Amino acid sequence: MIISLEKAVELIRSGDVVAIPTETVYGLAADAFHPEAVKKTFTLKGRPPENPLIVHISSFEQLEGLAESIPEEAHRLAETFWPGPLTLVLNKKPVVPDIVTAGLPTVAVRMPDHPLTCKLIERTGPLTAPSANRSGSPSPTRARHILEDYQSEVAVLDGGQSEIGLESTVLDLTSSERCILRPGFITAEMISTKTGIRVTHQTENIKQNSKSPGTRYTHYKPKALVFWLDEVPKSFEDKSYYLLHSKNISVSQKNVHSYEGNFHAFARGLYDHFRTADHLSYSQIFVEKLPEESAHPLIFALKDRLDRAISS
Ligand code: TXA
Ligand code: MG
Repeated sequence: MIISLEKAVELIRSGDVVAIPTETVYGLAADAFHPEAVKKTFTLKGRPPENPLIVHISSFEQLEGLAESIPEEAHRLAETFWPGPLTLVLNKKPVVPDIVTAGLPTVAVRMPDHPLTCKLIERTGPLTAPSANRSGSPSPTRARHILEDYQSEVAVLDGGQSEIGLESTVLDLTSSERCILRPGFITAEMISTKTGIRVTHQTENIKQNSKSPGTRYTHYKPKALVFWLDEVPKSFEDKSYYLLHSKNISVSQKNVHSYEGNFHAFARGLYDHFRTADHLSYSQIFVEKLPEESAHPLIFALKDRLDRAISS
């Protein structure tokens, strides 16, 4: 069911859950200071309780109410990238309910860049919001994806298609090494260029014991099997679904989608394609191998999500 902003405020205040638009993907929102409401998001998603949530805020003052011993870098990062797709992991204040952080002493916070959701948070206060998919299916980037996953079980604030289409960058600021736990649109290079802060990436062997529990799971997967395509073929089988990005390839076949070097549009459409391919019962999705990371800021995050969709 699509609802108005007014209704969303009312539902959140009464301890209910509402799906909200953000610039990355839609989230399943609840009042961050209402443990019973937050619990509903875990139950609805089928999310393991040991996977903590991101708290979404609309003002810098709200950050002070959630985190303590905030390092100076956090302020610099927030001023540079908020509102936007960067989540900061900080030491939590005792007032943040344990269910939000899955018992961790840290809390993940971000200020989303979406006018409707900012208006909502201004009226409700901080909201927890995991991506609004059922656990195991790709994150929703349109209101109708949530209706597909939950039918009438979840009310949705429709804010149009998510602009970025991939989840936020998660950056841990609680240990001396500033580390990206989940890559997203904001890259290590952007962070260092714009703020002078040096950050590292989590290496493959520590990912299994990641400080970001969500990155241990194999989500982001459609039901169809996903494969890398080393080379673009001359002709395309009707029974498979194709996602291409090379320039100068345009194919008028409904199962072939060509982005001609536009990686923004490629990222924005990725999860939508995963869902469409499943909906139309394709059993295989072929994705053209991505170029080097230096070719575009979104390639690192795209590779991360596609590697997860591909590996079993
Ligand atoms: O773009 C996004 O971040 C979206 C939109 C709705 O804001 N949200 C999102 O939430 O992707 P979710 O719950 O699907 O992913 C949150 C990630 C998980 O990998 C989780 O483990 C990690 O953030 N996380 C949350 N709290 C954390 C903490 N205290 N320490 C480390 N990782 C944390
Ligand atoms: Mg998620």
